[in-house]
Amino acid sequence: MKFDTPAGTNPIDQLKVVGRATDRIDGKYKTTGTAPYAYERHDVVPNQAYGYVLGTGIAKGRVRAMHVEEARQAPGVLAVVTTLDTPRLGRGMLNAAYLFGGPEVQHYHQAIAVVVAETFEQARAAAFLIRVDYAPEVGRFDLAAETPSAPPVGGDSGEGSGSSGKERVGDFDGAFAQAPVTLDETYTTADESHAMMEPHATIAAWEGDKLTLWTSNQMIAWAKGSIAKILGIPKQNVRVDSPYVGGGFGGKLFVRADAVLAALGAKAAQRPVKVALTRPLIPNNTTHRPATIQRIRIGATKDGTITAIAHESTSGNLPDGSPETAVDQTKLLYAGANRLTALRLAHLDLPEGNAMRAPGEAPGMMALEIAIDEMAEKLGLDPVEFRIRNDTQVDPNQPGRRFSHRDLVGCLRLGAERFGWAKRNPIPGQARDGQWLVGIGMAAGFRNNLLGKSGARVRLDAGGTVTVETDMTDIGTGSYTIIAQTAAEMMGVPLDTVVVRLGDSDFPASAGSGGQWGANNSTAGVYAACVQLREAVAQRLGINSADAVFADGQVRSGNRVVPLGEAARAGELTAEDAIEYGDLSKKQQQSTFAGHFVEVGVDVDTAEVRVRRMLAVCAAGRILNPKSARSQVIGGMTMGVGAALMEKLSVDRRRGFFVNHDLAGYEVPVHADIPHQEVIFLDEVDPMSSPMKAKGVGELGLCGVGAAVANAVYNATGVRVRDYPITVDKLL
Ligand code: MOS
Repeated sequence: MKFDTPAGTNPIDQLKVVGRATDRIDGKYKTTGTAPYAYERHDVVPNQAYGYVLGTGIAKGRVRAMHVEEARQAPGVLAVVTTLDTPRLGRGMLNAAYLFGGPEVQHYHQAIAVVVAETFEQARAAAFLIRVDYAPEVGRFDLAAETPSAPPVGGDSGEGSGSSGKERVGDFDGAFAQAPVTLDETYTTADESHAMMEPHATIAAWEGDKLTLWTSNQMIAWAKGSIAKILGIPKQNVRVDSPYVGGGFGGKLFVRADAVLAALGAKAAQRPVKVALTRPLIPNNTTHRPATIQRIRIGATKDGTITAIAHESTSGNLPDGSPETAVDQTKLLYAGANRLTALRLAHLDLPEGNAMRAPGEAPGMMALEIAIDEMAEKLGLDPVEFRIRNDTQVDPNQPGRRFSHRDLVGCLRLGAERFGWAKRNPIPGQARDGQWLVGIGMAAGFRNNLLGKSGARVRLDAGGTVTVETDMTDIGTGSYTIIAQTAAEMMGVPLDTVVVRLGDSDFPASAGSGGQWGANNSTAGVYAACVQLREAVAQRLGINSADAVFADGQVRSGNRVVPLGEAARAGELTAEDAIEYGDLSKKQQQSTFAGHFVEVGVDVDTAEVRVRRMLAVCAAGRILNPKSARSQVIGGMTMGVGAALMEKLSVDRRRGFFVNHDLAGYEVPVHADIPHQEVIFLDEVDPMSSPMKAKGVGELGLCGVGAAVANAVYNATGVRVRDYPITVDKLL
């Protein structure tokens, strides 16, 4: 189904099932341990052996020799595959470094061997017997040191040049020089680790030339294509299955070493092999969010109208890696006639930087929304009012282009009212509650809404059961549930007569899970398939589909009332389709908006920061399931607290690796760190987004939260920290 005109009224608008707060279908399986994660799928194939991955001990250079004789003879060992006896493999989608093969070392803990044994302990013990001779080289590990010489990304390509590179509108330098009120500050964000609960894990089995991977991955079609490319085998020989994912956060958008080494280990051992990356391997072997250094300049008139805004960000990566696109939101969030955004990318030999939890906007908003708070203070304006004064209904970089729907102002006003913003003392350091200095801060939330082709197959059996099959993943987000809700609404059946099967590359390819695009696109694909199934039902029953009403498990047409299952009496009905998008999202800008409000307490003696209250008001189109959407948003808000106060991979700048490479040293918020969180969704639809009229909401819950925390800390203490995370040492 091609979606190229704004959605009109359709069966989803009945909102009998869609739009209702619904428990997650997979919730009971996950909480009772009966949803098997990749490593636990003992039943999918017999005779599984264990693989243990060894990472390099240097960050840059070459592996000269590997001594593996002892390991090969160790008890239980079935095979040892080393990087020296494997030619360098191909590179999968978005992999900046090679996952395996050849002597070159590109980053610390890059995989150099997999040991396969009868048990995990035997594989691990044998791996420790491998001795490696390295020829180390000098690497570059210090972002700040490399920043002055970091080359611009994409050059200076003038106006409207796409999502990266330098963009100019008007005359920033002239307008900034003339502005009566200006700000010029630099903000830094840290390297961060996804820290998902489930590690990267895969069971691999070969049947002749055919490879099956039971794995944990966000993007099944990408994974299938990448594995074929990396191993140099035909795509049709690869099957990827990932029905449950214990968190991804961007770290499982692509294939990683677990999948590749399980496949190689299985080939060598001639047995199915399971590999999980151990926790201490993950931060350096896999990807992370790169640190940023962001300079923001804002010029405004005395009444608070922004006339000039510039945002430049530098991040580092391996030579084939991408920059952190931290300036994207600054192109769209506030009005202002003269604008400049630019990215620089420093060559670093640290592990590979890549997408993590709202890449781009999450760290970009952490800088921009402190800068806006600082600017409001310079202007003597309330920060909510300053933002509202500079709202825009058109894309400021392309003024002919409107937002499909934008109610940032609604989010800010309602948030201010509900949070009790009027009671805030704008002078920092004034409010006190016993031992605590109390502060209130806010920030806008912003994240784009992305569209992508998404397919599904739906089947109807004689019992009236509707089965949906798509390679869409549920990474803890609620995909099973919103897909079931969509099919139930479309076919007019109760939720419990819908069966949803996900994550298998044998099913139609979906948009997958990432970039908060999963919910809208995958359900729109199910909508498209259900339109076809309704057609097939009508045809079987000899009725006109335009007059048919699908409700209460029945199909009604004129005086005819038939149980839905009747249509499948002569044989199961199957329909398959995909949603495909025209250029609606090019004609109009599709974004999501929020107002984030935070109250903190800062201990007057120790400077310990405790978050006391949080509120997010979100505008993200139709909310398909308010319960799972709220869970997404409070998860995002929690990540925002982590980014503001705790999360940082510490770089060893001498040896080039992340030191705190486990969950003891890498701190993320736990329940005790998080107070009551409130989430309000504005009641809206966006008919430009898809037939579902929904948009992404998960990452919106994160973007802006860090700055709201930082602004609250400032309001509490009068200390403006521009270097995240705001740890106690920076407040004393
Ligand atoms: Mo998200 S970081 O695009 O999975």
